[in-house]
Amino acid sequence: MSTPPRVIHSSAFALDAANVIIECGIAAIRERGAFRFGLSGGNTPRLVFSELAKKSGELPWDKVRITFGDERCVPPDDVQSNYRMANESLLRSVSMAEKNVFRMRGELPPDEAAEEYETQLRALAGPSGDQRYAHDLLLLGIGEDGHTASLFPETPALGEREKNVAANYVPKLSAHRITLTYPEINAARHILFLVNDAAKLPVLERIWNGDAALPATGVQPVSGQLTWLLGF
Ligand code: 6PG
Repeated sequence: MSTPPRVIHSSAFALDAANVIIECGIAAIRERGAFRFGLSGGNTPRLVFSELAKKSGELPWDKVRITFGDERCVPPDDVQSNYRMANESLLRSVSMAEKNVFRMRGELPPDEAAEEYETQLRALAGPSGDQRYAHDLLLLGIGEDGHTASLFPETPALGEREKNVAANYVPKLSAHRITLTYPEINAARHILFLVNDAAKLPVLERIWNGDAALPATGVQPVSGQLTWLLGF
């Protein structure tokens, strides 16, 4: 990792998160003509995406390319779907062109969905000749077990070093998840962890102390910036 991680304690979590996203987007578009923006799932991002939608005039959304850090193996209209959450709270409000939203198709058999997304990311990275698709900004969350994206403790995808995307069986959920792998995550130019629950502080401290048993500890951008935005 090149630059030390930043930890920001915010009393205006959603607004501060939205501003970091917009700042990253403007810089990426200025430097490379597009904003490669990877979305996290779960509940925390919902209020951030809603705030971002309110500030939508501050970004040229036709230059934004949306990808996902992980997805549940459900259809896109399922209440569990990370795509559905992002669409309801952000994408439909900013009139994102469908061609610029790269959805993990959770409705497919897991291996097929992962393979399809792998192919899609490689094609998107292709024109610049990179092996991996480098997000300009990748959002991530944290579970109380230290999981991030759908890299859960003691699951097979943790060991993936070649592929960018994996179909990961999670015993505690008795379900597969589609997830970006460490090599793809750590290729990001900027990773922003969004944590808005003080109950997660003990697991954060274990991560910051390098506890390798926690998947989030493995998020160490090769050359990008790592920022923790805490709403407490
Ligand atoms: C998911 C997420 C997952 C999430 C954490 C935190 O699909 O659930 O990608 O990694 O970020 O579980 O979720 P909350 O924000 O709901 O606490």
